[in-house]
Amino acid sequence: MKSQVLFSSLKLGIFSLLETSGAPMTAGGISEAIGTDTDATRRLLDACAGQGLLEKVNVDKETGDGEYQLSAGSRAFLMSSSPTNMTGFVSLLADHYTSPWQDLTQAVKEGPAFSTRHGLEQDKSFEDVYSNEIDFTGAMAGVPAVFGAKTASAFDLSEFRSICDVGGCTGPLAYRLAAAYPEASVSVFDLPFVVKLAEDKRPAGDHAERVSFIPGDFFGDDPLPAADLYVLCRILHDWTDDKALKILTKIHQSLPPGGGVLIADTLLEDDKTGPEVSHKYDLHMMLVAGSRERSGQELKRMLNTAGFTEVAIKNNSYPFGHVLARKQCV
Ligand SMILES: C[S@@+](CC[C@H](N)C(=O)[O-])C[C@H]1O[C@@H](n2cnc3c(N)ncnc32)[C@H](O)[C@@H]1O
Repeated sequence: MKSQVLFSSLKLGIFSLLETSGAPMTAGGISEAIGTDTDATRRLLDACAGQGLLEKVNVDKETGDGEYQLSAGSRAFLMSSSPTNMTGFVSLLADHYTSPWQDLTQAVKEGPAFSTRHGLEQDKSFEDVYSNEIDFTGAMAGVPAVFGAKTASAFDLSEFRSICDVGGCTGPLAYRLAAAYPEASVSVFDLPFVVKLAEDKRPAGDHAERVSFIPGDFFGDDPLPAADLYVLCRILHDWTDDKALKILTKIHQSLPPGGGVLIADTLLEDDKTGPEVSHKYDLHMMLVAGSRERSGQELKRMLNTAGFTEVAIKNNSYPFGHVLARKQCV
């Protein structure tokens, strides 16, 4: 219910209207501007105020009528002009990520047969994602824009001089890494179609000039760009264990001795009792990709199989846990 209040308000243009207006508006003013029923709009706006998405001000105690303005949270995350704008991600959730949940019962009954029947688990599943009309790269950008600084500082990465963000999309995390580590050069390796979009999204600033983009397919023969640290943010959870292992093995082969891989994902606790955000993603990944979230210990085992020795796990920063593993020095 909470999500639907957010999704409908976003779709109806309530947040962008209040952003443009810059001043509190009544339910009547809002419903007139967006062409909706006034009573129903007032009830939705009140629900938004109850959830902290809006603030209700100048309230008449007799009638309960008042005016609505953006809350601090919606100013940060739902304004198009905010650097931490998450509306693309919220729209993706609203338009494409809610309907698969209707299949949860069936997916649990069928297990892997569900994935096979729906053609999940394919190397080329991102071709389908990008052939849709959705702005997937725009939607992805919001999360690292908000949480990327936590990933950059989860471990001290200052010893690494060349960092490659594998599957780094149009670079939001790479720019955070470049800002946090001024001595490092940073590259992004992603599918050719995505790399083509990246140049238009390059932010201003000296740090952004140190980020380069290299097209390629991590399941194909394309070599990874040379680096002494590879980063995998929300990559391994897209893939089944055998494919995730392929990616880690390719990274291990590309690294010099002593080099590292940093994984950021919505990690499950080792006893799998939480956190809630990771359970949501775990089931979601089962439904849309036939893949899964993993615990730190599961990733450690996979990293060991790929050849990594030293593995450090930190699973304490919402929404991501972080794992740093190293290739043995000779
Ligand atoms: C879930 S998104 C994560 C993006 C980014 N790391 C983040 O956290 O915002 C997965 C990324 O992997 C990229 N990707 C998928 N398959 C790939 C492949 N075979 N080779 C290279 N990149 C790939 C996608 O284009 C996309 O940018």
